[in-house]
Amino acid sequence: MRTITTAIAIAVLAISLGVLAQEGELDALRGHVPLLEERTPEPLYDVVNDDQRRVRAYPMQPPTIPHKIDNYQVDLNANRCMSCHSRQRVGDTQAPMISVTHYMDRDGNFLAELSPRRYFCNQCHVPQTEAPLTVENRFVDIAEILRQPRETEE
Ligand code: HEC
Ligand code: HEC
Repeated sequence: MRTITTAIAIAVLAISLGVLAQEGELDALRGHVPLLEERTPEPLYDVVNDDQRRVRAYPMQPPTIPHKIDNYQVDLNANRCMSCHSRQRVGDTQAPMISVTHYMDRDGNFLAELSPRRYFCNQCHVPQTEAPLTVENRFVDIAEILRQPRETEE
């Protein structure tokens, strides 16, 4: 009995996925190429390396990286990012210092060194490329929403 139920569930799922894919909702990244065919991969785009710090979409957003990070080692032995962004190094490098939150443990205590939970920078910070968007982005900045006239209450 259980196998039959599972089989039916899988069939229903497969059909609905098929329908969704046909409507193009799940297909943005595959570019409408059937699942059993291999698509020609997108070209690799250059990383933006203009050194211009970017506006954050909201205050708590990890800022995106405005420079190349090719071959920057971040592992057990070395953290290349910290060789420019640590408190001790910014005088020489003029890089922005990692913020105080990077020196805090999860209970909010301040540590003398980078907190282990902030060690792998690229978990949160990423460079950007000029690649065209594969899906539409409808994000609206809160500042724009606040500027819109308020609806008057009845
Ligand atoms: C050689 C020094 C150097 C190294 C190494 C380096 N950075 Fe930077 N970084 C800078 C400088 C300088 C800036 C300021 C903008 C610019 O000049 O590119 C910057 C800007 C940034 C910013 C933007 C900050 C903001 O407020 O907008 C982020 C995020 C960042 N770097 C992350 C990283 C990460 C992650 C790594 C390691 C993968 C790294 N950086 C390695 C020098 C460095
Ligand atoms: C778990 C996510 C996370 C990790 C890992 C992380 N960051 Fe951040 N980072 C953030 C967030 C969120 C912000 C913005 C809010 C804040 O400052 O905490 C930020 C801010 C920054 C800034 C801007 C500081 C400022 O005051 O303008 C720099 C530079 C930066 N991070 C560099 C790094 C580097 C270098 C590493 C690795 C050693 C790193 N971050 C690891 C999430 C992270």
